[in-house]
Amino acid sequence: MTQLATAYKALSNQPKTWLVTGCAGFIGSNIVIALLKLGQRVVGLDNFATGHKHNLEEIRANVNNKQWHKFSFEEGDIRDLKVCQKVSQGADYILHQAALGSVPRSLEDPITSNDVNISGFLNMLVAARDHNVSSFVYAASSSTYGDHPDLPKVEEKIGKPLSPYAVTKYVNELYADVFASAYGMKSIGLRYFNVFGPRQDPEGAYAAVIPKWIAAMIRNNDVVINGDGETSRDFCFIDNVVQANILAALSGSKSQNQVYNVACNNRTSLNELFNMLTKYLSENGINYNKKPVYAGFRAGDVRHSLANIDKASKLLGYRPTHTISEGLKQAMPWYINFLS
Ligand SMILES: NC(=O)c1ccc[n+]([C@@H]2O[C@H](COP(=O)([O-])OP(=O)(O)OC[C@H]3O[C@@H](n4cnc5c(N)ncnc54)[C@H](O)[C@@H]3O)[C@@H](O)[C@H]2O)c1
Repeated sequence: MTQLATAYKALSNQPKTWLVTGCAGFIGSNIVIALLKLGQRVVGLDNFATGHKHNLEEIRANVNNKQWHKFSFEEGDIRDLKVCQKVSQGADYILHQAALGSVPRSLEDPITSNDVNISGFLNMLVAARDHNVSSFVYAASSSTYGDHPDLPKVEEKIGKPLSPYAVTKYVNELYADVFASAYGMKSIGLRYFNVFGPRQDPEGAYAAVIPKWIAAMIRNNDVVINGDGETSRDFCFIDNVVQANILAALSGSKSQNQVYNVACNNRTSLNELFNMLTKYLSENGINYNKKPVYAGFRAGDVRHSLANIDKASKLLGYRPTHTISEGLKQAMPWYINFLS
């Protein structure tokens, strides 16, 4: 039996209580659905800074009545310690996803990114410590590799951060380490690499590349590529990220207090991505015939990103179930439905 099957079986036999912060966002809402489908009790926290009520409605639509009644939602801000303490009560596991994402957002407004991603994170750590949670799993980021030139990225070798966002995500790791040594707390940081899938927001100035381009193509607008299109990323489908979170929470002591890359160990350039999206949209009856428009490189962006996922594979039993192609094919009907 795989580690994931063992974890699912244990959870089905003995349901747990989970706190998912950022539950109205892209990754959080997908995690909540997976946990509810496994019969777990889930508390969700969000302040709708970048998340949406319609994502909570989609959680409702994706589970049955019995599962839905095991979900409770708290509207609140992780910058408020009292809120963090309240929602952490009774939690066996915390999956901390709430943060302000986006490198450009953090360059525009470093103070708010710092408040939410560092002070808010620290509040959540304190609450997790005070309530003795079995494990605190948090969304770290591949941006922590900064200017380190090596490819693929291995967990131990990081460079200098290239943006305020990257600083905040690295500080999270430092705080988690200190809480492990000072208070004996168990935590795991999952360094996500460009996650994509249903409910990733296609709108707004800080939208991620995949939903942004799909929206532009469906609306027959120009697709703008920053740079020459040879910038590459290890795009990771959401189901792989959900899997990593559950495995991390349930993993044994030897795997705790570490950080892990969560990706596919496969690099796709922006030019290749453009062609893939055109192809999968056309398979769904939407033909986009425009050429991409090339613009300048974006400040704070790393040129190439590719993860070594051996550590997560060995210590967590992480086995990505979807390649970028499989993930895009699966996500496309959701985007077409959402944007039409
Ligand atoms: N999507 C990616 O490719 C990616 C890559 C690396 C790391 N991450 C990290 O994963 C996590 C989830 O990202 P996502 O893509 O789902 O983004 P998202 O914006 O869809 O979700 C984040 C959620 O956190 C909530 N939130 C923000 N500030 C809050 C606050 N002060 N109090 C309570 N809730 C707050 C938002 O309203 C939103 O619902 C974030 O920590 C992000 O930094 C994401």
